[in-house]
Amino acid sequence: MTFKLTSHYFLERRGLKLGHVSVPEALAMPDKQTIMKVWKNDQSIVLPKLLDEHLPPYQADIQRAHECMEHTLNGIELGKTLEKSGAIKRLESEFSFLASSMEEHDEQAIEKLYFDAGDEKNILAEDLWCKASWLSFHDEDASLRFRFSFGMEGYEDVAADPERQHWAGELCTQIFPESELITKNPNILKHLTSILGHEPAFVERIVYFNAPNGGAQFHHDVERGHAGVVFAQLSGATFWLTASKPLLMKAMYDFSKQYPIKQELKNLLENDKLLSAYMEESDHAWVEELIDQTPEFIQYMIEQGYSHILQAGDVLLLPQRDLNHCVWHSVFTLGDEPGEALSFAVR
Ligand SMILES: [Fe+2]
Repeated sequence: MTFKLTSHYFLERRGLKLGHVSVPEALAMPDKQTIMKVWKNDQSIVLPKLLDEHLPPYQADIQRAHECMEHTLNGIELGKTLEKSGAIKRLESEFSFLASSMEEHDEQAIEKLYFDAGDEKNILAEDLWCKASWLSFHDEDASLRFRFSFGMEGYEDVAADPERQHWAGELCTQIFPESELITKNPNILKHLTSILGHEPAFVERIVYFNAPNGGAQFHHDVERGHAGVVFAQLSGATFWLTASKPLLMKAMYDFSKQYPIKQELKNLLENDKLLSAYMEESDHAWVEELIDQTPEFIQYMIEQGYSHILQAGDVLLLPQRDLNHCVWHSVFTLGDEPGEALSFAVR
C-alpha cells in the first residue's frame, strides 16, 4: 500500500485522456482566519498533511479497508468479508445485522447491508444501511464506494432525522474505524466548530476507493441541512478541480472567448440564469462535454488556480451552502493504485 508520488501525471478518467498535471511545491497549513474566510466565500481549501501524525495508529484499519475493497471487487459478499475481518463482531454491542440485499434493481449497486441500532428489546434506530456501489459503468474503472445512510433511498428526507443520521454515522465508524481520523481530529473539530458556531456532526458518510481511470465528474453535494463536506485522503492520491458555481460559470464563459466551443453552449453561456438551471438538470451534456471531457478546459482551470492534489494525510473542505453557492468539484485518481478516502457531510 506504500504509495510514492512522482512529480508528473497524466489525467485519465473512464477511458478519456484529459491532459496532465505537475505536483506543485508542498503547501503550507492555512491559519484559522483563512480557513473561516475561504469557507464563508464558498471556496474549497486543503489542509495539507493534517492527518500525517494520526495515520499510523489506523494503518491496520486502512489495510483491512483495502482488503474489503479487494474482496468486493472479487465478488465476495460484503457480509462475509465483514464477518471475517471482525467488523460484524465489533458492531454487535451496538447494532443488529439484519440482512443483505444484492440490489438487483439498481445497476450501479453491488450490495447493501441492513442494520438496526440497539437490540431486540430496545431499538434505537431502524433500517440503517451500508451500501457498496460502483462509481461508474466503465469497464476499466474499478472505483467503488461504501455509503452509510438509512431508510428509503431517494425518498426519505434524511436531514429531518438527525438521530438516525447519527446512528448511520456510528455504523460507519464500527465498520471503518479510521473514520475517527475525521470525527476525532481536534483540528477538524476546532475549525468546523468556528465555521458552524456549534460542534459538527458527521453524517451521510461515504468511504471511497477511487481507482486508476476513475474518479467523479463535476458535481456538487448540496443537501438540505448540510453545510458542506470534509474529504480526507487516507491512501493513494487524487487530483481535484474545484470552483464555486458562479466561478465555474465564469470560467466556462471566459474559456469560450478564447477557445472554440459548441454553439448551443455558447448561446447558453450568454444567459447566467438559463445556464445555472441547465447545470442542475441531470442531463447537462453540453456543459459536461466542456468541463469533464475537454483537456484544454481542464488545463485552463489548472492555470486559473482551481486545482488541488491530495495525498495520504491531506484533508479538503468543500462548503456546500446552497445550489447557487456551492463548490462544484471534479476528481481524478493519480497513480497506479486505488486509494481510500473518507467523504463526510457536515451538519
Ligand atoms: Fe462530491
